[in-house]
Amino acid sequence: MPDTLTDPRDRPATGDPGSWWRQAAVYQIYPRSFADANGDGIGDLAGITERIGYLRDLGIDAVWLSPFYPSALADGGYDVDDYRDVDPRLGTLADFDSMTSALHAANIKLIVDIVPNHTSDRHEWFREALASPRGSSARNRYIFRDGLGVDGSLPPADWVSAFGGPAWEPVGDGQWYLHYFATEQPDLNWKNPEVREDFLKTLRFWSDRGVDGFRVDVAHGCAKELPEVLPSQAELDALDATTGQHPLWDRDEVHEIYAEWRSVFNEYSPPRTAVAEAWVATPDRRHRYASIDGLGQAFNFDLLEADFDAASFRGIITSNLAQSARTGSSTTWVFSNHDVVRHATRYALPPRGSSTEKQGASWLLTGGTAPVLDIEGGLRRARAATLLMLGLPGSAYLYQGEELGLQEVADIPDAERQDPSFFRNPGVDVGRDGCRVPLPWKRSGPSFGFGATGAHLPQPGWFSDFSVEAEEDDTTSTLAFYRQALALRKDLQTVESLEWIDSDETVLHYVRPGGWSVVANFGTRDAPLPAGEVLIASSPVGEGRLPSETAVWLKTPSAQGSRLRSSGRCRRSTPGSRHRRPRRY
Ligand code: GLC
Ligand code: CA
Repeated sequence: MPDTLTDPRDRPATGDPGSWWRQAAVYQIYPRSFADANGDGIGDLAGITERIGYLRDLGIDAVWLSPFYPSALADGGYDVDDYRDVDPRLGTLADFDSMTSALHAANIKLIVDIVPNHTSDRHEWFREALASPRGSSARNRYIFRDGLGVDGSLPPADWVSAFGGPAWEPVGDGQWYLHYFATEQPDLNWKNPEVREDFLKTLRFWSDRGVDGFRVDVAHGCAKELPEVLPSQAELDALDATTGQHPLWDRDEVHEIYAEWRSVFNEYSPPRTAVAEAWVATPDRRHRYASIDGLGQAFNFDLLEADFDAASFRGIITSNLAQSARTGSSTTWVFSNHDVVRHATRYALPPRGSSTEKQGASWLLTGGTAPVLDIEGGLRRARAATLLMLGLPGSAYLYQGEELGLQEVADIPDAERQDPSFFRNPGVDVGRDGCRVPLPWKRSGPSFGFGATGAHLPQPGWFSDFSVEAEEDDTTSTLAFYRQALALRKDLQTVESLEWIDSDETVLHYVRPGGWSVVANFGTRDAPLPAGEVLIASSPVGEGRLPSETAVWLKTPSAQGSRLRSSGRCRRSTPGSRHRRPRRY
């Protein structure tokens, strides 16, 4: 592991303009559900611009904007009709420019979502492909195959799409196209140089407009190598996904695409950044996406998938910091996004493996009778986990509404659901609409201040107490807690390292350079609170005691603080302290 001052992890948090992303707090906006400026029930870009003050006061470093491109919304905007325009329902390119300038004026960077694995079926390329014969160059931008059977009326393979249902769709002339996601999302053929060129054009289009980075959707899916005789779904499932040779996923040559993208990013000053959404088999495979010759960073979903458990958290933190050190990247941390049940609700479910557990978070997603949720405990655990996470080296990805402590909205009537995974899995999966309900800004009024009229997904009555208005003036609110934590984080983050202090199996304790430390009690009983001034706590703490399911940040007593400051990274244990053996990742 490199340990010199040229190691990017040794750069101060705010020094090099090209390193802004390394420890950034990035706030994900799902634009259709954030704020509706023109009162048509759909959030829009002008709504974001109007709320820049809120984002600034929250203390985030960057916004990640989910797709805002023209789309029929077959998959919440991840079905893109045109990569270089704005959905007219969300605004215009001029609105985009105003939003970008307003964000930059507030010192907030902008990351946009880019969706390279598939277009929508309304994209001009796909329309042209449908209107063109088999074997045409228009069809060669996608993945077409002849159907089986004498007349091609049988699918080329029995593959199942990510949202359920078949992954091949007939086009009426004996040919079928591959759509790994919804039918309306035909997969692109990345062997086609025209596809490659067009995405480079898109990257330059947004970079020229001042975008600071890209979140790359399904980054592990672009390179595909389909054999002449297609394997069955069962055969696909049985393949080893870690070899780089799987026909569909995480193929080694996918990195050639991102090396080309990197050369575009590096045309800009500071270079544009990127973060891969890559659901791959191992952390080792994931970190290839985070290479400095590639996208530079990759989502690490490990904490998101973990139970609220000290040992699991520690193992995940240690291995991800080690992996990112190997690639020179910084790791990412995330608990919630637009694809998963909100973490306050996941932590409110009966623990996995407990006698009261049914199917964990999937119980909510299956739309079964709502399990008994421990709402208060869920939020307490979510706040503790978040505070532990915000203290870590690396960048923190936050999802709109988590700063309000929002729970998943579980009881959306079927008739109002929008997510394709609901429609493609009747009775099995209620989909992801429950975390995409428009935000409550006001205690009351139409759509709780989201807009002047209604909201495109129904908001429950309890949103009132979780509204920005209700939380703004309450010093104990989750909003106040996030604001305080993010402000402190900005002040405290220095070089990217931590040391573990051993405590017991339910308490995690780590020290950061610069004289601060983070202690989290995952247990159900209180624990001794180490010495130091409490800077912030996820729940109220008593004198000398750290309550159960609570995390704190401590200003470390000066001797230790100055030692950390002077050495930058410490490897040795504190002499004579058996119980406080520091361990570096
Ligand atoms: C990603 C997105 C998800 C979308 C899918 C297909 O996983 O996060 O929302 O449905 O890609 O584009
Ligand atoms: Ca609107």
